[in-house]
Order: sequence, then structure tokens, then C-alpha cells
Amino acid sequence: MSITSILEKPSFTRNDIIQLLKLSGNDEKLLFKYAAKIKEDNIGNTVYLRGLIELSNVCAKDCLYCGIRKSNILSTRYSLVEEEVIEAAKFAYDNNYGSIVIQSGEISTKSFVNKINNIILQIKKITKGQIGITLSCGEQSIETYRTWFESGAHRYLLRIESSTEELYYKIHPNDENHNFQTRLNALKTLKEIGYQVGTGVMVGLPFQTIEHLADDLLFMKHLNIDMCGMGPYIEHKNTPLYEFKDSLIPLKERFNQTLRMIAILRIMMKDINIAATTALQTIDKIGREKAIQIGANILMPNITPGKYRDSYALYENKPCTDENAEDCKNCIDVRVHLVNHKVGYGEWGDSKHYKNPEKTSQI
Ligand code: 5AD
Ligand code: FES
Repeated sequence: MSITSILEKPSFTRNDIIQLLKLSGNDEKLLFKYAAKIKEDNIGNTVYLRGLIELSNVCAKDCLYCGIRKSNILSTRYSLVEEEVIEAAKFAYDNNYGSIVIQSGEISTKSFVNKINNIILQIKKITKGQIGITLSCGEQSIETYRTWFESGAHRYLLRIESSTEELYYKIHPNDENHNFQTRLNALKTLKEIGYQVGTGVMVGLPFQTIEHLADDLLFMKHLNIDMCGMGPYIEHKNTPLYEFKDSLIPLKERFNQTLRMIAILRIMMKDINIAATTALQTIDKIGREKAIQIGANILMPNITPGKYRDSYALYENKPCTDENAEDCKNCIDVRVHLVNHKVGYGEWGDSKHYKNPEKTSQI
């Protein structure tokens, strides 16, 4: 079957996706062009901003790929105080970013839960409810998710990392603290509470096959997600998975595979929000712009106070760690215009998919 006839199918089979993930050269260009057109027709060429605040790198988990895992004693730990988070949110508000994301290592202590709650309430107050708040703070109890939602957070990001249970347990310790089913349940709970829910995976993990990636895309479709963030896996030398570094596909290929994942997902889920992730920029200086051109519509400029950025090293060579928020603000607009898009200043830029009345939950 020709590539064009696959692209034009109303829905992709697993085999179709596998074929698309293997494309290169002119056929890959066709895929990218098709995905770009789907995006333009369905959600236009506006890119929405989420000012990213990396609240703390203190983490109770031990994910085998992650530079801020609990057992990495070489990581310098920090937690922003409430005032610093509010200050960063105010920067986003003053500069018309529309939304922020509060991301953090996973902690579930009472004081952490209360701190996030106070921050949400305060940000809502000082921005007169005008700034959208997305959380990315890992697995929490139903009560916690509900409390944060009622206080004003309305989007939640929780990557499944891999939707294949067997691979999940190769990249996480196999213990009750890293349970695949718990993660699935968390996604389900978030949906039931009413959050716009985002998930995603890393691309190019050790042991990962094209079939795993195809299943990840089908998983997202089946879960009927509202948002997605996918990025290339980047090895970190102070993590257990580093020992498999010689078995990885080259960085450039991880990058290209991520772009193909984004383009295929855009065709499969026409009106969701897809982020052009920071990890793409680590491999290619204009990686995020390339993602925007072929299907992504969300940028997450880092607005964490500069002095903490080095410490939030999920992976190595993370970009922009030596800049402050002001630098990023200036380059964002230029970068977005460079690929003939515009920034949706002052807008929440909610997932159109969430509002689609035809939407049904398939979990
Ligand atoms: N390479 C790429 N992405 C990573 N993340 C964590 N560690 C790495 C890594 N080594 C991603 C995970 C997590 C998100 C916040 O960062 O997917 O969900
Ligand atoms: Fe906790 Fe990575 S292991 S954020």
C-alpha cells in the first residue's frame, strides 16, 4: 500500500503505525506534510505557552532513567519556597503567557500537598483567575487530586513512560512504589475528576522496539487523552539505565523517531494538544520548532528562577539551564514566527479535544 493511502485511512492499524514509524527520506517528508496540514485544518497555527516552573527536585521515586531519582546522591536537592513560585507565576501573568505548569519530583507528604494547594490558591488570586494551571507532580491520592482541582488546577500531566507493562518494569524498579497499574489508575482518576489529562512516553529507551512505540500511540488513542508530551530518552550517567548506553539508537535517530511519533499522533488525534518538549531541543537547537512544524502546538518555556535550573537535571545537557526567564521570553516569539506560527498570548489554549462533546472515555 502506498504511504498516501495509509495516511488517508480513517484510522490506523498497528501495522500501519509500524510502517509509518519506519519511514525515511521522501516518504517521511510526506508524513510530516500530511500531519502539518491536519494540524492547520483542525487547530490552526497558534502555539500556546505554558511557563514551566520546576518546583522541586526532591523525589521519593527511583525511576531507573531519571537524573533526580531518590538514589542519585550526586543531585543537589532544592525546593522553591512559595514566594519564588508565586513570583515566577507572576512573571508568566505579566508577560501574557496564559498558563503555567508546576512540575516537581514526586512527594506525597501532607506538607507538600498543602504547599501545592496554597500555591494554586494564591496564583489564582493574584491573577484574578486568569492564568491556567497545569500540574505535573506525579501519582497522588484521589483526595489530593480532587483538592488541587477544586482549588483551580485544571490540567494534569502524568506520562505513562511506556504503555507496555513489561518494558515499564525494565525502566522502573519492580516494587510497590513503581506500580504500572497504579499509574494507569491515576490517569483514570484524573479523568474522572475532570482534569484535562496529558500523558506521554520517552522515545529511544533501552529495550524499546518500534512495536512498543506503535502500542504507545494506540494506548493514547484508546485512553482518549487531551494532551501529550513525548521526548527522546537521553541517558544520564548517574542512573542505572546508563549501563545500556551502547545498545541505544543514535541520538539523531531518537530525535527523528520522536518527530515521527508526534506527526502520527497528530493524524490519529487531530484536536489534542501536543507539546514540543525540551528534550528535543537538547538534541537539536531548533528541535522544538521542527516539532511545531509537523504537529506540536504547545511550548513550555522554562520560568524557573535561574539559580535552580542546573539542579533539575532529569537528563544531561538540558538546554537553557543558564538562562533566566527574561532571556527565554525574548527568544520564544522569534522562534515561533520563524516557523510561520504565532503565539497565543494571554490564552489558556485548552485542548480542543477536551471540549469536544463527542468525546467518550475508553479506559
Ligand atoms: N531522558 C528523557 N526524558 C526523561 N524524563 C525523565 N528522565 C529522562 C531522561 N533521562 C522525562 C520523563 C518524565 C518527564 C518529566 O521527564 O518522561 O515524565
Ligand atoms: Fe522522581 Fe524522576 S524519579 S522525578
